[in-house]
Amino acid sequence: MENFSELIKKRRSMRKFTGEELSQEEVVALLKAALMAPTSKRSNSWQFIAVDDKKLLGELSHCKEQASAFIADAALAIVVTADPLASDVWIEDASIASIMIQLQAEDLGLGSCWVQVRERYTAAGMPSDEFVRGVLDIPLQLQVLSIIAIGHKGMERKPFNEDNLQWEKIHINKFGGK
Ligand SMILES: Cc1cc2nc3c(=O)[nH]c(=O)nc-3n(C[C@H](O)[C@H](O)[C@H](O)COP(=O)(O)O)c2cc1C
Repeated sequence: MENFSELIKKRRSMRKFTGEELSQEEVVALLKAALMAPTSKRSNSWQFIAVDDKKLLGELSHCKEQASAFIADAALAIVVTADPLASDVWIEDASIASIMIQLQAEDLGLGSCWVQVRERYTAAGMPSDEFVRGVLDIPLQLQVLSIIAIGHKGMERKPFNEDNLQWEKIHINKFGGK
């Protein structure tokens, strides 16, 4: 593993992928990261669908009106779902798992991008979660939070520029405290 500070600086959203497949070890590492994510009361309210079928990836790329087309070129899409009846904080559980997958991807030298599904719509105005549920036969009790598109990086992205850190958003002891 590389230095964590470098890892979080290097992780940038990747929306362009080469056609190279992932190794089985890489896929397992990504899924382990998802399953090791912390959850409230260890409820593990999530369920993950790992999609590598090109036809399904193509269908999922239409899950939103915009900013989801690149799913079609990903080697793998991990669809992050959770059961609201299993946890009242399923959104937090699923969000944390999503970023854990992204950080593991970066550690493997892979690119990834979060595609928001919850509260989003297709070009035809259908709720994105309903669309994804239909494509992948996801049971009704599960909500779809995100799709993490993963693949070998198809372009260079600059690491986060620390000069752009919004230190004014940090308050010491009391709001407004410096
Ligand atoms: C909750 C959330 C939803 C996002 N949804 C999308 C999305 O639907 N499509 C997309 O291309 N990027 C999406 N992103 C990626 C953001 O656009 C990206 O993280 C942000 O612009 C900062 O860029 P960076 O990740 O390269 O640092 C999402 C990120 C988060 C955290």
